[in-house]
Amino acid sequence: MTVADRFKPFGTTIFAEITSRAVEAQAVNLGQGFPDFDGPEFIKLAAKRAIDEKPNQYAPMGGVPEFTNAIASRWQRDTGQAIDPKSQVTVTAGCTEAIPATTLGLLNPGDEVILFEPYYDSYPASLAMAGAKPVFVTLHDRGGSFAFDEAELRAAVTSKTRAIILNTPHNPTGKVFSRAELEQIAGVCREQDLLCISDEVYDRLVYRDEHNPEAEHVSIASLPGMAERTITLNSLGKTFSLTGWKIGWAIASPELTEGIRAAHQYLTYAVSTPMQYAASEALGAPGSYYEELTATFTARRDALAAALERLGFKVNRPAGGYFILADHRGVSEPLGLKTDVEVCHHLIEHAGVATIPPTAFYDHKQRGQHLLRFAFCKTQETIDAAVQRLQKLARAGV
Ligand SMILES: Cc1ncc(COP(=O)(O)O)c(C=O)c1O
Repeated sequence: MTVADRFKPFGTTIFAEITSRAVEAQAVNLGQGFPDFDGPEFIKLAAKRAIDEKPNQYAPMGGVPEFTNAIASRWQRDTGQAIDPKSQVTVTAGCTEAIPATTLGLLNPGDEVILFEPYYDSYPASLAMAGAKPVFVTLHDRGGSFAFDEAELRAAVTSKTRAIILNTPHNPTGKVFSRAELEQIAGVCREQDLLCISDEVYDRLVYRDEHNPEAEHVSIASLPGMAERTITLNSLGKTFSLTGWKIGWAIASPELTEGIRAAHQYLTYAVSTPMQYAASEALGAPGSYYEELTATFTARRDALAAALERLGFKVNRPAGGYFILADHRGVSEPLGLKTDVEVCHHLIEHAGVATIPPTAFYDHKQRGQHLLRFAFCKTQETIDAAVQRLQKLARAGV
């Protein structure tokens, strides 16, 4: 008895592999993308109160009304679109469940789905669960900024294409898709009658500053003709540094929501009731909460980026998300190291800093070999410790 064929190509995730190596080597872990600090006190207090004062039995399948109402109000504030929380919002166990609920509920075996690479690793696995086939379109590294070629996107569409999966702000490049790029993707969706599955878990983590003066999160569902064909996925984890709560949601038309729920009802049926009450309070956080969050992450991004530049990495400050995707060739070539995996192991051994080799997120491996992913969603102490270790390595010249 062994792993089912559909999961065999995926093996153990790169995160488990690097984390276990990092633990052995007592490395500072800038690998996996989760904060090493807790979410805000007011939300944790709300959860404790909810356990005492609210129901603790199964929530309604689509979600607790207080929470789905809060999601719908936030959506209206963000996009100007009024939605019906009862028939258009589905609360899931993190965005991680929303992804396969969407693929299983809306795709048929043999359907093709376009993925931008590098991709979040749940997408190909969730397509495999549904028997659907990924078709890869590369976000090419244009000197640190990543962009797709519209002709390549159009060429990827066949008679079997059913959907495009989008992720903005993007893991791992830190790209925030511009309105013009989203218009191009939306144009293809409308012309070819495709769905768009839009993962927006980093929507509140956008760093608009002198490095990225135009950065702005736009939900593709807000573009003309897209609301009825887009499934927008989001979660609480990244915005509120509560990745362990696993509270996410999917917003879609009533027809598409029926498909998502057809799968969701047999995956988890419903999600933790008291945490949904607490999550509705989280969505009421004042603007100052988000300003503080982005200011904190901007400072950590900049501290890490500067250290990497001093070491010889080529770094473009990401416009969004949790990650720096740095070009390592300035460091690796003098040392005779070639691939991202080699450089990753070198940094664990010699600097005591763990990162993620991004070829794990590419179908065309050679297009990501010159890159390395560093997470900056960490405490100042963790960033400082990593920076000190990298500086020591730079001085030692190894
Ligand atoms: C792009 C992207 N989507 C989804 C997720 C998972 O979200 P959640 O923690 O809500 O399951 C992650 C987490 O790393 C992510 O980077």
